Amino acid sequence: MTHIPVMAEEVLKYLPWAEGKVILDLTLGMGGYAKTFLENSGTVFFIGVDLDEEALEIAENNLKDFHNKILIRENFKNIPAILEKAGVEKVDGILGDLGLSSLQLDATEKGFSYRGGLLDMRFSKLGQNETAKDLVNRLPERELADLIYKYSQEKYSRRIASAIVRERRSGEITDAKRLSDIIVKSIPAVARHGKIHAATKTFMALRMAVNMELENLQEMLPLAWEALKPGGRMVILAYHSMEDRIVKNFMRERRAKKKCAFDGIHDLIMLTPSPVRPGDDEIARNPRSRSARLRAAEKISGGD
Ligand SMILES: C[S@@+](CC[C@H](N)C(=O)[O-])C[C@H]1O[C@@H](n2cnc3c(N)ncnc32)[C@H](O)[C@@H]1O
Repeated sequence: MTHIPVMAEEVLKYLPWAEGKVILDLTLGMGGYAKTFLENSGTVFFIGVDLDEEALEIAENNLKDFHNKILIRENFKNIPAILEKAGVEKVDGILGDLGLSSLQLDATEKGFSYRGGLLDMRFSKLGQNETAKDLVNRLPERELADLIYKYSQEKYSRRIASAIVRERRSGEITDAKRLSDIIVKSIPAVARHGKIHAATKTFMALRMAVNMELENLQEMLPLAWEALKPGGRMVILAYHSMEDRIVKNFMRERRAKKKCAFDGIHDLIMLTPSPVRPGDDEIARNPRSRSARLRAAEKISGGD
């Protein structure tokens, strides 16, 4: 069970790792970055957050040799609750590595993959009620098609939704493999053998809807920015164009014209004028890094 942290060198470069700094990793996963960081710097205070209790257990074990840390199960949009649990008011660095980990993708009981498993797709069972199974069996055809299109721009969304609604009449769809087969059969034969599996987009759309990923990101960004000290830095890795657009727009809206032009709202300096992408070597080593886009920004204040 491994998840290879994406662009770890770049993440390390943009986050402030000097002595006494407080670093908040909002998407801890199995603690891939955390381990690299804590090994490189014994004196930071590290706060790791994830919704997924199983990932947190693994991270706890992976990071057991480090004591300058606290791991918290929480939705990253609840920044004030996270700070309270960690006992800090402000932090120096914030990291968000969005989406899901390889551990989650490969876990058959979660049903994130078209290869099979129970159709669940929730990052956490606590506090998150509706599953992918609920959505595919409950939503009217039109809403299902809109959902698939909204999150994935799947051009066969209407055909797929229509096939799902037809098939569910003969029995509830509870298994990821059955859903995948329905999707594959519903699209034209010529479109079934592209670079990515024909069900990938629909599965991604369902996962994003179940976990309200865009909504959570939108809520988290301003609260997380508020939690940064002046001079603090935020690094976000997005794997989906809509997520990346939310991050880009957030950073652009707050961008200060010059470092000295602080006016209380425009307090952000872009450290990455355009998103940083993984190199060919990294993509060859870790194909799941392919779609990653990293954006980093620094907070300035009147005193800067
Ligand atoms: C790409 S993985 C992170 C992998 C991690 N950086 C590592 O190196 O192991 C994204 C993680 O974010 C978590 N996550 C997604 N949405 C979340 C949210 N709203 N609040 C907290 N954690 C979330 C997922 O459960 C998943 O473990």
